[in-house]
Amino acid sequence: MSPALKKRLIRIAALSGLAFIIGAGWGLWEHGQNPARVLKSANGISSTVAGARIGGPFTLVDHTGKEVTQQDYEGAYRLIYFGFTSCPAICPTELQKIGQALNALGPAGENIQPLFITVDPERDTPEILSKYVTLFHPRLTGLTGTPQQIKDVLMAYKIYAQKVQDPALTDYTMDHSSFIYFIGPQDDLLAVYRIEDNSGHMVQDIRDRLSSGSP
Ligand code: NI
Repeated sequence: MSPALKKRLIRIAALSGLAFIIGAGWGLWEHGQNPARVLKSANGISSTVAGARIGGPFTLVDHTGKEVTQQDYEGAYRLIYFGFTSCPAICPTELQKIGQALNALGPAGENIQPLFITVDPERDTPEILSKYVTLFHPRLTGLTGTPQQIKDVLMAYKIYAQKVQDPALTDYTMDHSSFIYFIGPQDDLLAVYRIEDNSGHMVQDIRDRLSSGSP
C-alpha cells in the first residue's frame, strides 16, 4: 500500500469515527426526546443511533437512467451505502459486505433493497454506475444526480464527502464517511454498520431485527 493511500485510509477512518460520534450524539438526543423509540438491539450494534433522524426526500437518477425519489423505495427495507466507483479500497469492501450479507440472508433478504449512492456525481454517470453495481449484487441499484441533488442527499443522510487532490494521482479522489445504513420500511433508521462490522455481524443483526418485526 502506498504511503499516500495509507494516509488517506487513516483519514477516512478518523472522519468516519468522528461522524459516528456525532451520529450517536444525535441518536441519544432523539432518544431523550422520544424515549419510546429506544430500541433493544439484539447484540448491541449501533443501538445508540437507532431512531436518529437520517434520510428524507430526494430526487436522483438510477443506473438505468430513470428518475427516482425516496418514494420508490418506501415500504421496503434498505441497505444504503454512499461512495464512488473509483474508490480504491473502502467502497468496494463495504459493497462486497452488502452483497455477502444479502446472499447469506437468502429469501429473508428479498425485501431489502440495496442502494449505492455516489458522492462523486461528476464522474459517476448512470452508465459508469451500471457497470459497477453488477460487480457486487444483481439487485444493487446505483444512484446519481446533479451536484446539487447529491449535496442534498448527503446532507439528509449526514454523510461527509469532499474532493481531494492527491499528488500521487493524476485525477482527484474523494474523502467520505463510510457507513452502511439499514433503513426500515417507514424510512426509519434501524442500524448503522461500520467498517469494523463484518458481513457475519450484519447478517445476525439484520436477522434479529427482521424476526422481531422491528422497529
Ligand atoms: Ni470510498
